[in-house]
Amino acid sequence: MRNENSSHQGGSFYQRDRSWHPPAFTPDYKTSVLRSPKNALLSLGNTLSEMTGPVFGHNMLGPLDNDLILNYVQTGEPIGPRIIVHGQVLDEDARPVRGALVEFWQANAGGRYRHKKESYLAAIDPNFGGCGRTITDDEGRYWFRTIKPGPYPWPNGVNDWRPAHIHFSVFGHAFAQRLITQMYFEGDPMIWQCPIVMGIPSREAVEQLVAGLDREATLPMDTMAYKFDIVLRGRRSTLFENRMEGN
Ligand SMILES: [Fe+2]
Repeated sequence: MRNENSSHQGGSFYQRDRSWHPPAFTPDYKTSVLRSPKNALLSLGNTLSEMTGPVFGHNMLGPLDNDLILNYVQTGEPIGPRIIVHGQVLDEDARPVRGALVEFWQANAGGRYRHKKESYLAAIDPNFGGCGRTITDDEGRYWFRTIKPGPYPWPNGVNDWRPAHIHFSVFGHAFAQRLITQMYFEGDPMIWQCPIVMGIPSREAVEQLVAGLDREATLPMDTMAYKFDIVLRGRRSTLFENRMEGN
């Protein structure tokens, strides 16, 4: 059962719903074994500089930062299905979160990351960097344009593959306000075979991470679209993988 903190009205603080998030220790996801805490957690208060210090990125956005199709072009545009990803960042009471820095990173259409330690055989796309960022508008909305990433294998079990996904980070107005999650694509059967996804106890929580195909936002002869809303806390909260321990 999930906590029913959502019954709070008005300005109440919503406790994180621990049953919504996967346990930190999920042995089928091998790196969770060493990474999960072995001792009881301590709560540390934020320092003043963590609360009030400037946050990298808010004033430094370039015009192509939310366009992964163009922001790494060397010799031409990257290969793969062109997509728009858009949505709204909302708080627990469905109010828009304005001015949040949303960052995203992903593999290319073949499932390959531009990373030194990457060992997958799929080719690097010389015209695709795979990173971008944007800031939510007054209605909490964000959007970016990219290439749909491919699935990729990863060293876990004998033959584990990640479903196609885009990593997301949402920064608030302080360094301590950072949340990280992953977005998956509607209709992908790989989602339900992934040991990372399967660490999430609730099917409903997994479905919150699956962006729906959005035909209305599609551009004819140009770009498909997916809609992915991010809810920061409360009944409809998105699952954040950097807060699995429930803090
Ligand atoms: Fe990934």
